[in-house]
Amino acid sequence: MSDSAIKHVAIIMDGNGRWAAERSHNRVWGHIRGSRLISDIVEESEELNLSALTLFAFSTENWSRPIGEIKVLFSLLKKYLKKERDRILANDIRFKVIGDSSQFPEETIEMIKSLENETVGNKGLKLTFAFGYGGRQEIVEAANLFYEKNPGKKITEQDLSENLFASDIGDVDLLIRTGGDYRISNFLLWQLAYAELYFTDVKWPSFTRGEFKNIVSQTNERERRFGGITGQRDLKSSVFLAQDNKKKMNLQQGYK
Ligand code: IPE
Ligand code: IPE
Ligand code: MG
Repeated sequence: MSDSAIKHVAIIMDGNGRWAAERSHNRVWGHIRGSRLISDIVEESEELNLSALTLFAFSTENWSRPIGEIKVLFSLLKKYLKKERDRILANDIRFKVIGDSSQFPEETIEMIKSLENETVGNKGLKLTFAFGYGGRQEIVEAANLFYEKNPGKKITEQDLSENLFASDIGDVDLLIRTGGDYRISNFLLWQLAYAELYFTDVKWPSFTRGEFKNIVSQTNERERRFGGITGQRDLKSSVFLAQDNKKKMNLQQGYK
């Protein structure tokens, strides 16, 4: 699997509330059960030799939920950080949270910062939690950051990519959404430009490590063309070929 085309997987972990309701439980039970699965998916990502796993855990729009539910989601994040800290360090995982943390409880911010700082140089899986995250907000902030540093300059695609919350995770190769809905819900709008998409009806707490493995293997069989005809391996080579062709067209007489 080491030369697999799928390197960065992003997951919209959806369906917790409905999963719990189907079992006559409160929505938060679904979040509790769903959070238990994350360690398995992280382990499988290492097993599959992925370079990055990005998990959507709490969106900017999720701030509109009842405060009791929001508190449970924050407590589950803290629980995860405590429980997995040693494993993350031992496995050389680079941990990061992307999103607007300005309204997070102080203690949560400190726990996140401390793990981020301790793992910043790690070379293993790039594990990123999108928490308090919105794709549009990320793009706007990236542009603002760039202009602060480069007043008066024109921004390029590369500049924007470099100023995203976690620029090193790069483009997403495969997006999985559980829970039966077919939408992006403001997740990684920039990074999903050429991602393969996989939607499953299975609700997040019922999703399994085995299913995750199958989806990644199946997607590795798909031919990704990046706008070309065949054999274009990534977006970079596609952009390069496109530029070359545009130059050639311009050189041809009669072309205007
Ligand atoms: C996903 O499950 C978790 C979060 C959005 C925090 P939901 O809570 O959205 O569950 P459903 O979609 O209502 O079933
Ligand atoms: C997306 O799920 C956000 C997370 C999984 C954290 P939502 O349940 O919030 O998305 P919508 O409301 O169905 O679009
Ligand atoms: Mg949902």
